[in-house]
Amino acid sequence: MKKLTKTVLLLASSALLSINLNAQEIDKESGLIIAEGMQVVKTNCTVCHSAKFITLQKGDRDTWLSMIRWMQDTQGLWKFDAKTEDTILTYLEKNYPPSQSSRRANLSSDKLPK
Ligand code: HEC
Repeated sequence: MKKLTKTVLLLASSALLSINLNAQEIDKESGLIIAEGMQVVKTNCTVCHSAKFITLQKGDRDTWLSMIRWMQDTQGLWKFDAKTEDTILTYLEKNYPPSQSSRRANLSSDKLPK
């Protein structure tokens, strides 16, 4: 009986966990997390490739900015005005941040060799 109780508890907690993980609402059309700035990202970032490129990536603001610069320099991505770029970067860094569990934060520049 004890073992059964444990199993039930385990099942209940994993069910709760998956509900939690699914709490983010996803835009059905693109697969992007619905949040402020999503529409701007959808408009500008799903023209050449699917939003899967975005949803499979993670990064801090600098990482996202360097991906955007790379596409602008080599892949024909247009330039954004400052406000649009800020909206896009804020959306990306908030909703697709570096994953905490599998990767530590980057060292701050004062901890890196000169
Ligand atoms: C003008 C076309 C174009 C637009 C618009 C565009 N991209 Fe890309 N992007 C590309 C191309 C081309 C690749 C490389 C595809 C490949 O590797 O086959 C790419 C790759 C990527 C990758 C994968 C990079 C990697 O390291 O694997 C990400 C992430 C990405 N884009 C995000 C974005 C975001 C965010 C936006 C909106 C700000 C955007 N893209 C808009 C052309 C574009």
